[in-house]
Amino acid sequence: MNRWLGTIALVIFLPWNLSPQAASSSINGMEDINISHRGASGHAPEHTFPSYELGKAMNGDYIEIDLQMTRDGELIALHDETIDRITGKTGLVKNLTLEEIKGLDAGSWFNEAFPDKAKTEFKGLKIPTLREILEKFGSDSKFFIETKSPDVYPEMEQKLIDLLNEYQLIGAENKAGNVIIQSFSSASLRKIHAIDESIPLIQLLSYYAPATITDSEIGNLQEYAVGVGMHYTAANPAYIKKISDSGLLIFPYTVNEKEDMEMLLDWGVNGMFTNYPDRLYEVYREKIKKR
Ligand code: G3P
Ligand code: CA
Repeated sequence: MNRWLGTIALVIFLPWNLSPQAASSSINGMEDINISHRGASGHAPEHTFPSYELGKAMNGDYIEIDLQMTRDGELIALHDETIDRITGKTGLVKNLTLEEIKGLDAGSWFNEAFPDKAKTEFKGLKIPTLREILEKFGSDSKFFIETKSPDVYPEMEQKLIDLLNEYQLIGAENKAGNVIIQSFSSASLRKIHAIDESIPLIQLLSYYAPATITDSEIGNLQEYAVGVGMHYTAANPAYIKKISDSGLLIFPYTVNEKEDMEMLLDWGVNGMFTNYPDRLYEVYREKIKKR
């Protein structure tokens, strides 16, 4: 059992924790976690400052960030390995310099795709570097950071941890859970722990059918991860119960409709990724009112 999971177990079994969630794990006592997926990306262009600002304003607990790396080694917030989908240009990030990335417009696509949500100020928005994000939001935000395409960028993990250390967001003096690192790549997550074992890790899982998990798979996850994330349509009550009973946390992605949020909450998830943190916040508030 890793060090951080030990902290979670403490939260589970302390006698004063007698709420209905007493049998559940939590992050530093936080329940019902609201993760702004690429920021409040249902309201503003994903992975831009306005999207992150809205995520916080709409009561998102965490800003979710996907990482790619430029040819000259800068970590940037971008979901895709290419610039094609959100810039109108073509190319692989790994072949482009930061200067070339900074010349792109990452906002106009949103105005064209969602005219009812379009804003003049979205036009010309820049793709942010992780350094810029930490500089602007680091002192008063929590981050759920995903190492994307780690095979393409073998230096990504070390650069990420160096930057988090530089901004004093990880390390002994920090509250565990202010930065959580997630990945579909278990190798990438294990690499993170080889550098700093104190960082809580979430293993993202791909399913193409209703999710199932064996005791052996759970045991393997418990060696390094504090929890898992999976597409919400693959989740089901038996699967969620089995994971929760093991002490691992569960964060389905990407949940945008209130009915789905309510259902997953009833099934016992610990939080979820959403493009609409405002909707999820309302669902959480309605749950509290019903208690
Ligand atoms: O990180 C959770 C979720 O974002 C994984 O899917 O493709 O949106 O990064 P994706
Ligand atoms: Ca992601």
